[in-house]
Amino acid sequence: MKKFIFACNFKMNVVDVEKYMEAMKDENYDNVIICPNFCDIREYTKLNKSNKVFIGAQNVSEFEKGAHTGEVSAEMLAKIGVQFCIVGHSERKKYNTETLIQTNEKVKRLIENNITPIICVGEELYSDPTKQEEYAVRYVLSELNEILKDIDINKVIIAYEPIWAIGSNNVASSQHIKTVLSAIKKYTNVEFTLYGGSFGEKNYEEIAMIDVVDGALIGGASLKPELICKMQKRVKELYE
Ligand code: 13P
Repeated sequence: MKKFIFACNFKMNVVDVEKYMEAMKDENYDNVIICPNFCDIREYTKLNKSNKVFIGAQNVSEFEKGAHTGEVSAEMLAKIGVQFCIVGHSERKKYNTETLIQTNEKVKRLIENNITPIICVGEELYSDPTKQEEYAVRYVLSELNEILKDIDINKVIIAYEPIWAIGSNNVASSQHIKTVLSAIKKYTNVEFTLYGGSFGEKNYEEIAMIDVVDGALIGGASLKPELICKMQKRVKELYE
């Protein structure tokens, strides 16, 4: 049976691990990946033990080690139990000027340390709305062309997050998501693709039913543990 991945990106927010513990009680959530801020990762490894939740990080250094003040290496993340890591998020490109070459290096460091990269790609709004889909496909494939250089495609997950849909309540249409994710799968052969951008209570059932979607990368809604649990249970039912 297909499993829908719930990858939770808390961004620079704090969610008390006890709240997740309470919401998850005794059930297993082995299709949920929680990516808290660096400081809270160790706390969240508790959930990995009690509820089989996977632990992720939101960023990693492109360097192995050494004089890189403020950076955290892939080896350090692996040592504390991190199994997934988001890379190339549009917010890092926008506010931290992360380049595609850096993202490619980060992916390499993660794979070297047996951490699965969740590679983010996504386009801005196009001047002609009738050509948004076509533009999106061209844009994300050109990003992936750089990011995936010398990378084993079987070791990564690709998350498509249209920038205009992030935190905007302006979720992409099912048709749009299907077109872009189908193109990503066709041209890269990647097995797992996620959708991200205003994913939540109002649209999760529809998105989960799109055949090329294997999960979601969730910002705002992931700060509500009960909602994540509710959506996870409902999607499981839908897949049965
Ligand atoms: P929202 O779900 O808040 O739109 O954020 C999406 C996102 O950026 C996840 O990485």
